[in-house]
Amino acid sequence: MSENNSSWLGIDGKVFVVTGGSSGIGQHIVNELLSDGSKVVNADLKDDGRKDSNFLYVKTDVTKKTDADNAVSEAVKHFGTVDGLVNNAGINIPRVLVDPVDPDGKYVIDEANYDKMFAVNVKSVFLMSSAVAKVLAKQKHGVIVNMSSESGLEGSQGAGMYSGTKGAINGFTRAWAKELGQYNVRCIGVAPGVLEATGLRTLSYEEGLAYSRHKTVEQLRAGYANTSTIPLGRSGKLVEVANLVAFFLSDRAGYMTGQTVNVSGGKSRG
Ligand SMILES: NC(=O)c1ccc[n+]([C@@H]2O[C@H](COP(=O)([O-])OP(=O)(O)OC[C@H]3O[C@@H](n4cnc5c(N)ncnc54)[C@H](O)[C@@H]3O)[C@@H](O)[C@H]2O)c1
Repeated sequence: MSENNSSWLGIDGKVFVVTGGSSGIGQHIVNELLSDGSKVVNADLKDDGRKDSNFLYVKTDVTKKTDADNAVSEAVKHFGTVDGLVNNAGINIPRVLVDPVDPDGKYVIDEANYDKMFAVNVKSVFLMSSAVAKVLAKQKHGVIVNMSSESGLEGSQGAGMYSGTKGAINGFTRAWAKELGQYNVRCIGVAPGVLEATGLRTLSYEEGLAYSRHKTVEQLRAGYANTSTIPLGRSGKLVEVANLVAFFLSDRAGYMTGQTVNVSGGKSRG
């Protein structure tokens, strides 16, 4: 969406909290919202150094209640209110459920892996949403957007924990839409498929995923170029996810709540 279209979205002057806005999809969401004239608070562990009069960085570990509450109260203090939240921060540590060759090996899911994945991808969504919902319900308007994944809808080999965390937040989205509708607050999910590389694609991520799929890292990388399972025949652009999030935050999507929408070029299995 270009700056010329910001009036069509009508989110100029609105205040949004984005988690994980220092990298990848979150950074593109921040770009998009600022170009639409919105005010943005980035709640992330790390600062990407962005400076803008409509932007505030609040150092936040979204797995901690005190940090989540602080991010929301800083947003209210700095910009006067909050009109929406994007629960974008997330991690993916690929692991298998069982490995007959190496039952206690490093790529088998263990409790530490489970706890970390669910803390960052699920508990954070609860903590941030409960802090923001207090503001939204009181003012009787607002939107919560949850960043899911196609893996959360369809499952993905080597990503059982990740798929589970995203499935959990799809449940939050459905239930909270039903709870929050009475306050004129919407809750909606976005489920990206295969995208351009982000900070998520670290070497340890690639090693875990390659192991789970009985491939080498080189074979896994060679597969990125193979888009035959994607009807549109290409990976998604991060800006294409950001555009959808901006639309969902706007009143243009005013009658949409409770669903998790794929942005995956038509891919739905794999
Ligand atoms: N990249 C993809 O292909 C893809 C596909 C589907 C869904 N997603 C989802 O999109 C979201 C963003 O992923 P991305 O690919 O842009 O990843 P990324 O690694 O580029 O960005 C994630 C951001 O979250 C922040 N973060 C991580 N843990 C945090 C914590 N505890 N507290 C605060 N901030 C924290 C990181 O610092 C980083 O800035 C995630 O929820 C991910 O599951 C990504």
